[in-house]
Amino acid sequence: MDIQVRVWRQQGPADKGRMVTYDVKDISPDASFLEMLDVLNEKLILDGDDPVAFDHDCREGICGMCGMMINGVAHGPERATTTCQLHMRHFKDGDTIDVEPWRAAAFPVIKDLVVDRGAFDTIIQAGGYITAPTGTAPDAHATPVPKPDADAAFEAATCIGCGACVAACPNGSSMLFTAAKVAHLGLLPQGQPERSSRVVDMLEAQDDAGFGGCTNMGECTTVCPKGIPLTLIGRLNNDYRKSIGKR
Ligand code: SF4
Ligand code: FES
Repeated sequence: MDIQVRVWRQQGPADKGRMVTYDVKDISPDASFLEMLDVLNEKLILDGDDPVAFDHDCREGICGMCGMMINGVAHGPERATTTCQLHMRHFKDGDTIDVEPWRAAAFPVIKDLVVDRGAFDTIIQAGGYITAPTGTAPDAHATPVPKPDADAAFEAATCIGCGACVAACPNGSSMLFTAAKVAHLGLLPQGQPERSSRVVDMLEAQDDAGFGGCTNMGECTTVCPKGIPLTLIGRLNNDYRKSIGKR
């Protein structure tokens, strides 16, 4: 495949940034989107140009690093996947593809496609922990957990912190992320001692970090690569209402 990419280039946080067009030739339809960017970067380096900065690590859909907007959609047109798991066969020979960083006030651009997602860390630091002693691996069965609760907690725990939910939300809200983190601990017996303080503290941290409020648009769950359901935001709001006076 021969394609054109229009990539957001921004030297640093203070730079205004601009879209730059590049031709990328002879790309296999089975290449991943990141491999296509690798090919572009190899050419830029050989030409003595600055390669495009982008985040990546596992390249197998589990670390959440590879966030970018592709043709205006978080993680691209396939939806519910990560950029590293998106393949070029979802595009056509001759296509022009726009590639931009996450656009959210709480995720400032560091360089090109790389944004600072440290705001997520402040939410986790505010309540993403338990204090109940859980022992070592052999003690794992000492506290019985009903199967439906274990399954629901596991589903919530699959959130990889990629930030696609924030990038897709017209309000730049991180409610789906926070809801997943609150649910995955709050559904388990070990998470009960901090259940009230956790939800209030994490929502306060979310507001302090500059994320917007949730107005139930649902864009977040549409692009979430792990299928975190919107119902967890309802659960978060219920927990918050019950906890606000108890902390
Ligand atoms: S809720 Fe989904 S989209 Fe949001 S950070 Fe977690 S995995 Fe990514
Ligand atoms: S590089 Fe880890 S999820 Fe894409």
